[in-house]
Amino acid sequence: MEKVITWSRRQWGLLVGCLGAILLVFFLLADHSGYHENTPSRRRVLWGRRVKGQKSLEVKLYTDINQLVMLDNGIVQVNFSIPDGHVLGISYNGIPDILDDHNRREDRGYWDVVWNEPGGPSIFERIEGAYFTIITQNEDQIELSFTKIWDISLRGKSVALNIDKRYILRRGISGYYSYAVFERLEGWPEVGIDQIRIVYKLRSDKFSYMALSDEKQRIMPTMEDRIHGQPLAYPEAVLLTNPANPLLRGEVDDKYQYSIENEVNKVHGWISPDPPVGFWIITPSNEFRTAGPNKQDLTSHAGPIALSMFVSTHYAGTDVRMNFEEGEPWKKVFGPIFVYLNSASSQNNPQQVLWENAKEQMLSEVGSWPYNFTESEDFLPSDQRGTVAGQLLVSDRYINENLMWAQSAYVGLAAPGEVGSWQRESKGYQFWTQADEKGYFIIKNVLPGEYNLYAWVPGFIGDYKNDTTITINPGGEVQMDVLVYEPPRQGPTLWEIGIPDRTAEEFYIPDPYPTLMNRLYINQPAEKFRQYGLWERYADLYSEQDLVYTINVSDYSKDWFYAHVTRNINNRTYEAATWKIVFELESVNIGYYTLQLALASANEADLEVRFNDASAQPAHFSTGIIGKENAIARHGIHGLYRFYSIDVASNVLQEGNNTIYLTQSRSRSPFQGVMYDYLRLEGPPEGY
Ligand SMILES: *[C@@H]1O[C@H](CO)[C@@H](O)[C@H](O)[C@H]1NC(C)=O
Ligand SMILES: *[C@@H]1O[C@H](CO)[C@@H](O)[C@H](O)[C@H]1NC(C)=O
Ligand SMILES: *[C@@H]1O[C@H](CO)[C@@H](O)[C@H](O)[C@H]1NC(C)=O
Ligand SMILES: *[C@@H]1O[C@H](CO)[C@@H](O)[C@H](O)[C@H]1NC(C)=O
Ligand SMILES: *[C@@H]1O[C@H](CO)[C@@H](O)[C@H](O)[C@H]1NC(C)=O
Ligand SMILES: *[C@@H]1O[C@H](CO)[C@@H](O)[C@H](O)[C@H]1NC(C)=O
Repeated sequence: MEKVITWSRRQWGLLVGCLGAILLVFFLLADHSGYHENTPSRRRVLWGRRVKGQKSLEVKLYTDINQLVMLDNGIVQVNFSIPDGHVLGISYNGIPDILDDHNRREDRGYWDVVWNEPGGPSIFERIEGAYFTIITQNEDQIELSFTKIWDISLRGKSVALNIDKRYILRRGISGYYSYAVFERLEGWPEVGIDQIRIVYKLRSDKFSYMALSDEKQRIMPTMEDRIHGQPLAYPEAVLLTNPANPLLRGEVDDKYQYSIENEVNKVHGWISPDPPVGFWIITPSNEFRTAGPNKQDLTSHAGPIALSMFVSTHYAGTDVRMNFEEGEPWKKVFGPIFVYLNSASSQNNPQQVLWENAKEQMLSEVGSWPYNFTESEDFLPSDQRGTVAGQLLVSDRYINENLMWAQSAYVGLAAPGEVGSWQRESKGYQFWTQADEKGYFIIKNVLPGEYNLYAWVPGFIGDYKNDTTITINPGGEVQMDVLVYEPPRQGPTLWEIGIPDRTAEEFYIPDPYPTLMNRLYINQPAEKFRQYGLWERYADLYSEQDLVYTINVSDYSKDWFYAHVTRNINNRTYEAATWKIVFELESVNIGYYTLQLALASANEADLEVRFNDASAQPAHFSTGIIGKENAIARHGIHGLYRFYSIDVASNVLQEGNNTIYLTQSRSRSPFQGVMYDYLRLEGPPEGY
């Protein structure tokens, strides 16, 4: 019994012009006793004290041609279209509209889904409510609901999902919360979903400065600058040839240069220098985003646009899309996220002040997670969630006879599945943490359900999974036994290349072409890989012959190119590149050696491995065609993790110098290739 009043489009029409009915509506809204009595378990004591002189909350319905509902708490004013539930306008701190009101009503602040039926076209759909409900209205909080109800008559036109979009405005809070409940019922058709997100398009005459982290902040080009620029080799990358701000001339702009790992994507947004105002997307939890902590996604980008990405195939490919079988029921809550607005009193370095304040607000939102003021039965507060704790150790006797602490291990709960399946898992919730230096972990606020516990340990190859299905009950606390991860290992290390950390960032990242730079990354060596066009540098650097890496001589930070790409012949044809690893063996022991091969990413690639015979057919080992992660074109330094343990029979090795040939054989485009995470050659097992 959450609903107070519901309007459909038809009913709405009847209401227009019917003043008596509207007065009745206001009368009903003013009477909250029914709501409280009927929902004892949902009743929440709302926090926050009434500050003297602070305006209380206001809801105004405009039943004229505008058909909108306005929420006002005296700090921010937000307009929503009814019954669609698009954000039409946000007024704050004297800026009459934060959003770009030149855009159409449905193109300022909206949720969207990209979906298709099997074999059907990919459809971009803005989520439009058909019913509008005021869920709560009291002096502390207003919650609105805009729902879309699917039925078979909508097949092919609207995604087979019921969606309830919620917005919450609270007293004294400078911003508002947004979440949505997505649901599929039994009997509904098969559907695939590539993307679910929220988009905000801000005023370009005000919001010119973007901030993603302490280091990643800059004055941005405009959409106009991009339209007048020169498109580069991959969609979205543009050379700014004639930007309005001459300081940006000659730079590359690409929204993918501003991607971030989901685990750290907690606050990003835009600043208007005059008046000094910030607009921020704060995401206090990663539980509802897909595919775990290492999945990367878009943040803010030229427009000015700010995104909240919940589901996407970015840096992971179609492996992570949500595929629902015919009749498969499902329900999930995305969010809440917090749209935060702040202002600075002085013009003195407002960027710094606003960013620091946004970070503080982010920490406060993270600290209040899970929120205790949402009204949907489907979003559970902390007392209805559980906890899992334990300690993870690592056993690798070739490194240490004793057990080692799984220091800083990523430990998480995700839907039961295969080892490592979490990085492709997209329908459920995931709960991750990083262990402390002794491998102790505690995962809090886990939603009730069944999970497997997964982990990966920086510095060690492979993936950990505990086979026990873990059932979380409301308020439950699960204490795991001491868990021991045995990473893949057959014999002693003869040599290794790189660091097992699931990225290629420790390898050689070339300087970008001086004519194709994003100046933001010039002074940031750690993220140089985000520069445009680095894949092309391979053919420049290895113009005579492909990369040769000599063990004990070469240095992977200088001599191992960050991506095994194709060689550009004439800008039309591309050639497969074969890299060589040369190493010396004093003697060959009879038995099996092992090449441990960890990839950080792949894109339409097939990696062939040969030992001492460049022309062996078939190759001694081949990955087969793998990957659609597009990390090369989209300036990522990793995509999905793949691990191979390759047996090497001693008869293919020899005393003296040996060569391993690595051929990435698919070469239609410059964006095909792999990124290595780590390689290790192990000798035959020693007698233990
Ligand atoms: C909200 O709508 C009202 C009524 O049309 C209008 O007066 C007000 O300016 C709008 N505010 C914003 C921020 O769009
Ligand atoms: C709700 O959460 C806030 C922030 O964590 C906390 O201060 C407040 O006491 C909570 N209220 C209730 C009723 O639990
Ligand atoms: C998995 O977890 C359970 C529960 O803590 C534990 O008893 C079991 O030993 C673990 N399995 C492994 C292989 O570590
Ligand atoms: C490809 O085209 C660019 C721009 O015209 C040129 O600078 C470059 O040398 C060409 N590369 C090759 C390998 O032909
Ligand atoms: C590398 O150098 C070490 C120390 O000199 C030596 O023991 C080892 O055999 C060398 N390895 C290779 C593959 O050359
Ligand atoms: C192996 O190759 C290296 C580098 O080319 C060379 O210096 C070395 O003498 C070779 N070793 C043997 C045993 O042929």
